[in-house]
Amino acid sequence: MKIDGYKFGQKNNWRKWVWNRICERLTVPKKDAVIVYLAGIEDMDRTIACQKGFNPNNMIAVDKNKKVIQSLKEKGALHIHSDLTSALIAFGNTKTKIDVLIGDFCCGLVYDIEELAVRFPADAIGDAFNDNAVIMMNFLRGRDNGGMLEIRDTIENTSEKHRGKLFIEFFLRSAAMWTDGLLFHYYKHQKPTIARAVFQMNFKEKKVIHENEEPDPIGYENYLSKEMGYDKLFGSTIDFHMYRIKNGLNAVFNSYKSGNMVMDSTVFLYAKNVLVWGVDKTEEIEAVKSLTRKISSTLAVRTMKQKGVLKPSPTI
Ligand SMILES: C[S@@+](CC[C@H](N)C(=O)[O-])C[C@H]1O[C@@H](n2cnc3c(N)ncnc32)[C@H](O)[C@@H]1O
Repeated sequence: MKIDGYKFGQKNNWRKWVWNRICERLTVPKKDAVIVYLAGIEDMDRTIACQKGFNPNNMIAVDKNKKVIQSLKEKGALHIHSDLTSALIAFGNTKTKIDVLIGDFCCGLVYDIEELAVRFPADAIGDAFNDNAVIMMNFLRGRDNGGMLEIRDTIENTSEKHRGKLFIEFFLRSAAMWTDGLLFHYYKHQKPTIARAVFQMNFKEKKVIHENEEPDPIGYENYLSKEMGYDKLFGSTIDFHMYRIKNGLNAVFNSYKSGNMVMDSTVFLYAKNVLVWGVDKTEEIEAVKSLTRKISSTLAVRTMKQKGVLKPSPTI
């Protein structure tokens, strides 16, 4: 029997922990949940997901490694050969929405991850997910070298070591900045429902507005600064938004050792009502046009598997 890498011991316990946290947070039936995941050569998440009652035909593996893709192809598993960020943007342009994302990375907070984190709360990626999709991210602690990264500032300006927490901290900052700058713009023009929900959450509890009253942007600013004293409590509106958004994610954290390396992970909700803000995504969509076509054909294969026209995906 092959005993190598992390097939046994801590990673396997960790994997069970991850899938249990996912099941606790899932808001759709397991058999219907669409899972996008970084498969790796051993494709170990497939087995545990199927044991838990997820449908193998709903498991869509993403990997940038050709060898991994070849092995998935040979065993009849749905696969997308791409980096994860592009795959999510392309996914956002299809009708199928993701319920679970397994980002089991084998790297630290490198450039690729910064790209993902910055875009994470924006529509181009947000459109890939169902509301309250469950996200798992796992990173190698340290090994973050990779040029001039903004994410390095986040790392260097904190005593926090946990890479899952730092990833969240980083994309929250991005989300909070969008929120801060675009809230009123959205409220009026693009995303009335989302903006309204944010307003209502902030205001109703504190009885600043009544049920049927229209919230107004100036009132909001006044409320934050004068009545609530956000500057004393949070330092800035950005901190305030980060605090607010963080509460909506219901995040949990974990770490395990793999040899002499530490892996840090987090499971959290992609809570669209507090997280997602739109920016013009035209260019990003254009850049992944051919990938979007490929994903659409993968999804068509999935439909044929579900209908029994094609062989179902493997469970191991
Ligand atoms: C740690 S492995 C996944 C292992 C899998 N979860 C398991 O336990 O069997 C990570 C995989 O993700 C791929 N990968 C890493 N970064 C990626 C990225 N940005 N986009 C797509 N694939 C990536 C790697 O090629 C590797 O095969």
